[in-house]
Amino acid sequence: MASNTTQSLVLQVVLSTICSLSLLCSAFTSQDYANALEKSILFFEGQRSGKLPANQRLNWRGDSGLSDGSSYHVDLVGGYYDAGDNVKFGLPMAFTTTMLAWSVIEFGSSMQNQLENAKVAIRWSTDYLLKAARSTPGSLYVQVGDPNMDHKCWERPEDMDTPRNVYKVSTQNPGSDVAAETAAALAAASIVFKESDPAYSTKLLHTAMTVFDFADRYRGSYSDSLNSVVCPFYCSYSGYHDELLWGASWIHRSSQNSSYLAYIQANGHTMGADDDDYSFSWDDKRTGTKILLSKGFLDKNEVDFQQYKSHADNYICSLVPGTSSFQAQYTPGGLLYKASESNLQYVTSTAFILLTYAKYLSSKGAVASCGSSTLSADELIAEAKRQVDYILGDNPAKMSYMVGFGDKYPQHVHHRGSSLPSIRAHPDRISCSNGFQYLYSGSSNPNILVGAIVGGPDRKDNFSDDRNNYQQSEPATYINAPFVGAVAFFSSHNPSH
Ligand SMILES: *[C@@H]1O[C@H](CO)[C@@H](O)[C@H](O)[C@H]1NC(C)=O
Ligand SMILES: *[C@@H]1O[C@H](CO)[C@@H](O)[C@H](O)[C@H]1NC(C)=O
Repeated sequence: MASNTTQSLVLQVVLSTICSLSLLCSAFTSQDYANALEKSILFFEGQRSGKLPANQRLNWRGDSGLSDGSSYHVDLVGGYYDAGDNVKFGLPMAFTTTMLAWSVIEFGSSMQNQLENAKVAIRWSTDYLLKAARSTPGSLYVQVGDPNMDHKCWERPEDMDTPRNVYKVSTQNPGSDVAAETAAALAAASIVFKESDPAYSTKLLHTAMTVFDFADRYRGSYSDSLNSVVCPFYCSYSGYHDELLWGASWIHRSSQNSSYLAYIQANGHTMGADDDDYSFSWDDKRTGTKILLSKGFLDKNEVDFQQYKSHADNYICSLVPGTSSFQAQYTPGGLLYKASESNLQYVTSTAFILLTYAKYLSSKGAVASCGSSTLSADELIAEAKRQVDYILGDNPAKMSYMVGFGDKYPQHVHHRGSSLPSIRAHPDRISCSNGFQYLYSGSSNPNILVGAIVGGPDRKDNFSDDRNNYQQSEPATYINAPFVGAVAFFSSHNPSH
């Protein structure tokens, strides 16, 4: 036993020496990535609102929010809770959906038996977004649940008794940010279902066009219209121009309708095409739009889109030390670091962007230009892999930041449903205030929210596995969504195995 341990220790040291000398070594096998892919999608079942289907796999969850919308005479049952609470926030839900769809569009061919699950995860959201968009013309439902009241309770979704207020944007109270993101989500999803369900795909695309038209015609930020219930939670800090350009770009990609190309050409300059911007999140879509439109330039030589490729290059170069525009921050352990709260959302979105851009570049034998130097697609893939591997456990803390993956992962996830006893184990109601004992308890969460990626470690690679530290221990749908695509890529393109 002892000598086996010594041997394996020696082997580990030898391997890690080889690994640090060569890129030919990986901490994870293709099976590991495939396993992480399956879990990254499974997580969405834990976030489901509405009536759960018979094949629900995370079976510690039950039905919830079954009368959402009813007091307003609309059916708003379904959709996803954004994170560790029980509110359905439209802006992050739509962005999550866009990123899940983009994951399938670029890397669905690597998903194998998980492709169907990924499509189910998208449809769970698009079914809801269609209801939110089609219930009343000239308006869009963008939220269910009063977040200020919700956050005063620590309650399972199944027990929820806080006000399920419904919020909408309309011609008088516009919300071009949330509406254009919803259009982007519907348009991206229409690409996913184009072959497998053409009728659904058409419905998604037509609704995307209608919602986009509403977003563009009645301009304003939902942070002004709905301030007290969307700020500071999902305030649109970047305004709505970025979403209008993003929404038009997705409809263009799905429909190839020249009106949207003309819209992009006419409005790009005033909608963020000229900014060098270095974050990509549920709030700010500028970087994603540039990557997306670069494909038009690379594939079809649409010269109007050349500027998007230059800006996409600038973003990519900003991530890589030694290049002229380098400006990213990394932890000593090599994790991209942007913010103390929910940092891993930027890591997963960046890993996805790196891989997607690498795909666009390599299909044309192109490179990213960083002043006098260049970056190849392989270099982008290597950087994405470092970030993905860090999340999965190749990091100084030697722990995975994906719940249920590997031997060591967060146990005190800031998530109501996961931290309270399951209604299966404890059918009696646990009231708003009685739930707080579970928030403050030192015990591990009783229900494993398999696949959830949490906010993640601090700038020194330190992670506090503390339920009350929501900055680090809370999962969110928009952390996972781009990871689905990134980890799918590595499940079939693992350099070492
Ligand atoms: C293209 O989009 C515009 C704007 O939504 C619409 O009016 C037009 O009918 C579309 N054209 C086609 C061929 O679908
Ligand atoms: C990491 O956190 C621990 C516990 O809070 C603390 O003792 C340590 O100094 C931290 N390390 C760094 C590098 O910040």
